[in-house]
Amino acid sequence: MTGTATPLPRAHRDVVSFVRRSTRMNASQLRNWEAHHAAWVIPLAHRATSTSVAPGQPFDPAAIWGRTAPLWLEIGTGNGEACVAIAGRHPEVDYLGFEVFKPAVASALGMVARAGLTNVRLAEVDGVDALRHWIPAGSVARILTFFPDPWHKARHHKRRLVNPATAALVASRLRPGGSWHLATDWPDYAEQMREVLDGRRDLVNAYGGWAPRPEARPLTRFEQRGLAAGRQIRDLVYHRPADSTDPADPVDGHRAGR
Ligand SMILES: C[S@@+](CC[C@H](N)C(=O)[O-])C[C@H]1O[C@@H](n2cnc3c(N)ncnc32)[C@H](O)[C@@H]1O
Repeated sequence: MTGTATPLPRAHRDVVSFVRRSTRMNASQLRNWEAHHAAWVIPLAHRATSTSVAPGQPFDPAAIWGRTAPLWLEIGTGNGEACVAIAGRHPEVDYLGFEVFKPAVASALGMVARAGLTNVRLAEVDGVDALRHWIPAGSVARILTFFPDPWHKARHHKRRLVNPATAALVASRLRPGGSWHLATDWPDYAEQMREVLDGRRDLVNAYGGWAPRPEARPLTRFEQRGLAAGRQIRDLVYHRPADSTDPADPVDGHRAGR
């Protein structure tokens, strides 16, 4: 028999807001992972890629946190500085951080564990895919997206996390009165965020323009780098109106607000 292997079908890849990087962890990240992932990282089943989320997995806050509380999500937790500071200040909320880069999740785990934050959970997946396939419509009180990757080249702008499709998804996942807080140090991305979000009928710019910097956000490496380069940090907050009629779910056509 000849050894010509049948090529495996290539996994279909959506346009995603991140690049696949090495999952190699340093010694301290490995220690964090071994000691703490069972307690703080939610093991989600994937589709074709390791950061995707398989549909059909129930989202059960009572099973995850052992209680029902307002749900806050962070997309792109990085090393976890903002997650630890904000969740630590708000023990009354259930805080779920999505991050695709495993070594960063491991660093965040160390900080979360040292702070003993029982209201935090982390998931090593694409947060957009998690919104699409796991988080129920109308269920989230607050979504945080701080310093998303800027994707500078015009041909890469389609990879920016803030785009019309993600905005529709976020709006559908927010409960009435829920909010999306964004921050960036890149002026053209800040303008793009406003172009995408200001015109939406299902979201309202809470400040009619730029929002104040939230006191609870620590100065992360990315914010510091922007400031050091002389760039202005732009914050934005959008609400889903409290009296909004339920927007159609862009994924499965169900109504939000359940
Ligand atoms: C520029 S860093 C900012 C990290 C953190 N928010 C901060 O301010 O320090 C962006 C992070 O988002 C992560 N990321 C990008 N797209 C993501 C997605 N769709 N889901 C989850 N994490 C994502 C990247 O791996 C990276 O760690």
